[in-house]
Amino acid sequence: MVSKQLFFPVVAIFFCLPVFSQTIEKTIKLPEPELKGKKTFEEVLLKRRSIRLYKDDALLLNQISQLMFAAQGITAPWGGRTSPSAGATYPVEIYLVAGNVEGLKPGLYHYIVSSHSLVQKASGDIRKMLSLAALKQKSIEKAPATIVIAAEFSRTTGRYGERGIRYVYMEAGHVSQNIYLQAESIGLGTVAIGAFDDKLVKDIMKINQDVLYLMPVGKKSSEGEKHD
Ligand SMILES: Cc1cc2nc3c(=O)[nH]c(=O)nc-3n(C[C@H](O)[C@H](O)[C@H](O)COP(=O)(O)O)c2cc1C
Repeated sequence: MVSKQLFFPVVAIFFCLPVFSQTIEKTIKLPEPELKGKKTFEEVLLKRRSIRLYKDDALLLNQISQLMFAAQGITAPWGGRTSPSAGATYPVEIYLVAGNVEGLKPGLYHYIVSSHSLVQKASGDIRKMLSLAALKQKSIEKAPATIVIAAEFSRTTGRYGERGIRYVYMEAGHVSQNIYLQAESIGLGTVAIGAFDDKLVKDIMKINQDVLYLMPVGKKSSEGEKHD
């Protein structure tokens, strides 16, 4: 029997799904990431907080570029990335749910690590649907964009067996912290969201990988540090 808490989001998402359509794959090259910040690393550590309230301002493409680079950007000729990975198996895949981003139509985008670009997977604003699938957390509905940390477990379990499962969860933590710190460094706020319905989120995004974290991101509102 479906619980009442889950029934209403499921029904609401069912009715919203037709407005979210699969699109032809359009590639958007991101600007090169800025490699010098205005705050020291220690200041960023000191200031990092989970931020759940954002200004209505659109995010800019160069801000998205910084966040994608922090999550999974390539930093070594052999393909090494900003986040560590067990045996360099790199199971993590990053998606962006854009609602209000200058230069991006509302929709779902996949970050392509090798070319530092985004590929549009679907069009339409799915922020409300995603929020319903995450226990109606308003931060997702209101943020101009949400970064989705997903993973292809088999890349790591293929090498390490059962133990690879814990490695993938650890890696999601590394990626999430990189995003937190980069957001703080450029005056944005984010929060790592783990409370969501796995199946609903996967159905909405129509991806094969498992979703581990949702990270809404936006310009911090002055009330941004209030807790839910
Ligand atoms: C695994 C994990 C899951 C979390 N899930 C949520 C969540 O679903 N919603 C939310 O608002 N915050 C979530 N958070 C953020 C925590 O509430 C937050 O980190 C904690 O309150 C400490 O505050 P700080 O991050 O500002 O230091 C999660 C954090 C972690 C590490």
